[in-house]
Amino acid sequence: MSILSTFLWKNRQLRHQIYLLRARYHLAASGFATGLGASAWLLHGLVRSLRPQTCVEIGSATGWSACHIGLALRENFAGRLYAIDPHGPTAWNDQGPIDTYPILRRNLRRCGLEDHVEIVRSTSVEAARGWTRPVDFLFIDGDHSYPGVKGDWDLFSPFLTDFGIAVFHDTTWERRGPNRPDMGVPRFVEELRRKGHPVITIDRDCGLSLVQNRVGGLPLVPE
Ligand SMILES: C[S@@+](CC[C@H](N)C(=O)[O-])C[C@H]1O[C@@H](n2cnc3c(N)ncnc32)[C@H](O)[C@@H]1O
Repeated sequence: MSILSTFLWKNRQLRHQIYLLRARYHLAASGFATGLGASAWLLHGLVRSLRPQTCVEIGSATGWSACHIGLALRENFAGRLYAIDPHGPTAWNDQGPIDTYPILRRNLRRCGLEDHVEIVRSTSVEAARGWTRPVDFLFIDGDHSYPGVKGDWDLFSPFLTDFGIAVFHDTTWERRGPNRPDMGVPRFVEELRRKGHPVITIDRDCGLSLVQNRVGGLPLVPE
């Protein structure tokens, strides 16, 4: 490597690290964390490790989870997140009936993630129409009712790649959260577990469960 190319490479690395620091500062200082809390870093770590080409998020709100996933994609220098949310009033808005779209855009811009996260302003049902891409990483945090969460799994799990991972939020709500009769996520993910899907649950921030699509799990030694 010539002195000039070494200098240019180091310069590019330095600028990249400064962008990442800026994004991390925004995440730490801006106070827009949701109920996902520090568990958003689990999404970040999974995406860093999986190096997915295509990520889908159902339920972006103001972008706490989308920014953590997007930051990991930026650090990977690859991959794209499709961040699906109608950004209108639903029964599952943390922020009340406000339009979260401009706030999401602002947070993505402040974190420098606009090239890695594509905002899809629609419901998951609308977004799934005509969907064809394989999905390596799926985060389900939208309509938390039983029919809603089951519908999201049914729509997008057929696209999960072999070692792809789906993450559900609020899976230990019934053990940890306030009583909410319309909450259906724990019941649905428990059904997947009983059917034999591999499920690992982190009992923090009302529960994050990692689920794989193949019943019984994928063989680690080729069959
Ligand atoms: C709990 S918030 C998501 C929080 C976000 N994942 C985070 O941690 O930053 C739930 C979001 O799901 C969205 N939502 C509700 N029904 C939806 C649907 N059918 N399709 C997509 N998003 C939906 C709501 O608009 C709301 O913004």
